[in-house]
Amino acid sequence: MGPFSLEWIEATDPRMAEVHAVRHEALFAPFGIPRDDRWDDQGADRCHLAALVDGRVVGYACLVLDPDGSGHVRQVSVLERARGQGIGRELMAEVEREARRRGLSLVWLNARCTAEGFYHGLGWRTVSGVFPAGRTGVPHVRMEWPPG
Ligand SMILES: CC(C)(COP(=O)(O)OP(=O)(O)OC[C@H]1O[C@@H](n2cnc3c(N)ncnc32)[C@H](O)[C@@H]1OP(=O)(O)O)[C@@H](O)C(=O)NCCC(=O)NCCS
Repeated sequence: MGPFSLEWIEATDPRMAEVHAVRHEALFAPFGIPRDDRWDDQGADRCHLAALVDGRVVGYACLVLDPDGSGHVRQVSVLERARGQGIGRELMAEVEREARRRGLSLVWLNARCTAEGFYHGLGWRTVSGVFPAGRTGVPHVRMEWPPG
């Protein structure tokens, strides 16, 4: 695995096809959930961050701008073969920089409990009990990161 770079891409970017694959492989295939590319990706309130190695998408995060001035993060995903190299951490760091650039009051996400420790390590805090959510229905917690 070579060095990686991060790039904010438009919903119309052809590389969103690779993003579909990464989201499916990282988030849903392990649960045997059939691939479904009907994502709500369009709109100026959706910011798409891709992690690239040799020009190919290996990781992804979506920052959604909420109408109340906050934002939330969705579909944080890194291909299994690319994990453990800091890509997830750098995706989140860039999302946090973007949140600061945009002056968001707060950023939140619903974390799978299996990823709660990942976000904790990046300074996020858990603000809810456990609840099932998403296409998988697996246990999640709400977490928040206050821009400073
Ligand atoms: C969670 C995920 C995005 C992490 O990506 P990654 O590129 O492997 O993470 P990094 O290499 O940047 O790891 C950063 C740190 O978090 C830790 N970490 C990574 N995944 C973790 C997890 N699931 N639980 C606890 N800690 C974790 C790493 O050990 C590393 O710690 P360090 O700073 O002490 O070395 C990736 O494992 C993934 O896509 N998982 C499947 C999909 C998923 O669960 N997404 C989150 C949905 S809410």
